[in-house]
Amino acid sequence: MLKLTSVDLKKVKTEILIIPVCEDKTIHDNPTISLLIKKAKQLKEFTGKKGDEVIFYDPGEVKAKRVILIGLGKLEKIDPEALRAFAGKAVKKCVKINLPEVLITFPRGKNIKINVTSAIEAMMEGAFLGNHVFNKYKKEKKLKPLKRINLLVKADMVKKYGRLLTRVSTVCAGTILAREWVTTPSNDKKPEQFAKSITTLAGKEKLKVSVLNEKELKQKKFGAMLAVGAGSHSKSRMIVLEYSPKGAKKTIALVGKGVTFDSGGINLKPTGSLEDMKIDMSGAAAVAATLITVAKLKPKVKVVGVIPIVENMPSGSACRPGDVVKSYAGKTVEIGNTDAEGRLILIDALSFCIKKYKPHTIIDIATLTGACVIALGEKIAGVLSFDDELVKIIELSGKKTHERCWSLPMPDDYKELLKSDLADIKNISSSRWGGAITAALFLSEFVGDTRWVHIDIAGPAYIKKGHGYCGAGGTGFGVRLFCDLLDKL
Ligand code: BES
Ligand code: ZN
Ligand code: ZN
Repeated sequence: MLKLTSVDLKKVKTEILIIPVCEDKTIHDNPTISLLIKKAKQLKEFTGKKGDEVIFYDPGEVKAKRVILIGLGKLEKIDPEALRAFAGKAVKKCVKINLPEVLITFPRGKNIKINVTSAIEAMMEGAFLGNHVFNKYKKEKKLKPLKRINLLVKADMVKKYGRLLTRVSTVCAGTILAREWVTTPSNDKKPEQFAKSITTLAGKEKLKVSVLNEKELKQKKFGAMLAVGAGSHSKSRMIVLEYSPKGAKKTIALVGKGVTFDSGGINLKPTGSLEDMKIDMSGAAAVAATLITVAKLKPKVKVVGVIPIVENMPSGSACRPGDVVKSYAGKTVEIGNTDAEGRLILIDALSFCIKKYKPHTIIDIATLTGACVIALGEKIAGVLSFDDELVKIIELSGKKTHERCWSLPMPDDYKELLKSDLADIKNISSSRWGGAITAALFLSEFVGDTRWVHIDIAGPAYIKKGHGYCGAGGTGFGVRLFCDLLDKL
């Protein structure tokens, strides 16, 4: 569906040709494109400024029925993310006017400072992701994804970047899978259903799939996790996905928070905070989609995905504030607030994963705290760990994929805030401040000496309004990040 092509622009027939234009320098060395840009820039409304747009119908220079030129702004601002957003926007435009295909030109020439591989990777990602349409819940399917997206490149690049194209398509398909899980409403992804959806898709890949049902979770004493699911009619599940290549030396474990709806439980959330809580399984979606993707990418490391899935509901059988539960690790936890449920399911998943797989590195990803969104806003994830080197590698991957990650501190003395008079630890802090940090410190009490990092994606897991290459709903944050990261670890 996404292709690299090298065609003669003067001869090729296409419904639509889209050209990115720089405001202050030329970023094309093709004379036909240069002519079209010159023509566009003669119009006073088009300078190539970011967001500028002009459309020509049946221009003489090429055989395309339409040519759209889109401004990218000044050369110094053209980084991979600008190209990703441009390509996404270009594809979305064509989807909107119901076209079957598009031809997008790849910028080239001596002025471009970013390297060709990052530029082409970003454009392919933007184009692939921008073509995602989620209309399952619409009776009338007005929008359809494009059948063919062609990126116009130089002849030698078609072969050279063929493998990268396959990789990008695979990783972006994984991202879209995570997005769709997140965007799916909670009435269609209750724990049993969501678990089934994951195991069905994972079963089609070369992954070992195991599921612990509620009875087994009780037998194995997942006390903290079961407390969270106790109020729901849908039974809790723990899914484990294993990708084990021959000769792997290391095991990397990924753990994702899978709360299919977070009502807050008995500490019921107020109106305004409840409406988006279908997204509280975004960590689980990222981990499951990553494993499914990893099975296709086949990296050299062993990767284990541990996914606790519950629904946090208030009812006569729900856990209460003040209850004390025994975690899988044996430590007792006083439930100070039933809305701090994510950390309860994560500690059982982390302890279980470490005990069973003894991973070299364990990474958890979760929509864990509103405090993290207050600290970093809606587009940046918080990264918390005692291992500074690991944080650096994650930040680097985040820079590359534009899934931005920012490190928050893990001060030892804040651990005091989690003391309980009755139990070994309490699931909420005695201070109202620094909630993203105290949540991570709570988790840290259950990882022992294992190299561990926590990623809080409460902000960037979803967006209310679509942008360049992502529509409103789940963003799939984490999938591209992990796929990049697994090669670096
Ligand atoms: N799922 C929420 C965190 C969240 C908030 C995710 C906003 C996405 C957007 C989490 O379970 C929660 O409710 N956390 C509480 C913790 C508090 C009770 C200590 C919070 O952040 O308010
Ligand atoms: Zn909660
Ligand atoms: Zn939650």
